[in-house]
Amino acid sequence: MSHATLHDLHRPLGSTGLRVSPLGLGTVKLGRDQGVKYPNGFQIPDDDEARRLLTLTRELGINLIDTAPAYGRSEERLGPLLRGQRQDWVIVSKVGEEFDNGQSRHDFSAAHTRFSIERSLQRLETDFIDLVLVHSDGNDLAILNDCEVYQTLAALKDEGKIRGFGFSGKTVDGGLKALEQGDCAMVTYNLNEQAERPVIDYAAAHGKAILVKKALASGHVCLSPGVDPVRASFELLFAQPGVASAIVGTINALHLAHNVATVAQVLASR
Ligand SMILES: NC(=O)c1ccc[n+]([C@@H]2O[C@H](COP(=O)([O-])OP(=O)(O)OC[C@H]3O[C@@H](n4cnc5c(N)ncnc54)[C@H](OP(=O)(O)O)[C@@H]3O)[C@@H](O)[C@H]2O)c1
Repeated sequence: MSHATLHDLHRPLGSTGLRVSPLGLGTVKLGRDQGVKYPNGFQIPDDDEARRLLTLTRELGINLIDTAPAYGRSEERLGPLLRGQRQDWVIVSKVGEEFDNGQSRHDFSAAHTRFSIERSLQRLETDFIDLVLVHSDGNDLAILNDCEVYQTLAALKDEGKIRGFGFSGKTVDGGLKALEQGDCAMVTYNLNEQAERPVIDYAAAHGKAILVKKALASGHVCLSPGVDPVRASFELLFAQPGVASAIVGTINALHLAHNVATVAQVLASR
């Protein structure tokens, strides 16, 4: 039996010049099990399990992977796990949030931004990161107006250390401003939460990139009985022409394959 893959469905990520699969792999669960809001407990996969998951991810035609310094050991595990495959992946990481001993803290200064990118490059064993997003604490406009993180990312892009930059925020005003000055916004958009829709519309009108986080409301929509919640979620997302890709976090191979098949069906029916 042949399985649906996303190899033929890669699309532009806004105007970054990158082409990405419509589904990306979120990697919180590869690195962190504290302070997370998933409906069920889980065990962080060991190296063999993680390697199998990443191999399957690639075979299913996913080339987009999302990580962050705040995802515990995610970045430092991906370096060795993706060794030799750099050209096969579009790697998204973040800057501004640190997670130590179960606690988040934020730093959007120029010095921390540079330190964090150099550390991500080392951990990921690469000399460039495709896209770096500011990991907002929710004070989106204050970060963009009063901190140096965005201009520092612009400089790092000029230096070739990152290929693009953007903002993973929580507000419409922040998302819009982030897109005026950057390449990409990562927004929450799912069956339960659609407030950031104007950011998606702006991106569609201006050739900017949108990545969707929490597409399945961190798994909470999967608890509802009735229609397939994954299908309903992807129908909602991909009705928006501005959405380049949905980053879904899973460590379950069956869920991953189902998500891929569902995205392929939803896009084919459009
Ligand atoms: N501030 C930020 O920048 C930010 C915030 C949140 C998330 N993110 C990024 O976005 C990614 C996704 O967000 P998220 O992990 O919060 O939420 P999500 O992708 O909406 O949901 C992930 C949860 O859904 C479950 N799931 C996935 N596919 C499923 C299926 N077919 N059937 C049943 N359950 C399924 C997963 O469990 P299983 O492992 O059991 O499949 C996991 O617990 C993260 O990994 C991260 O990369 C970024």
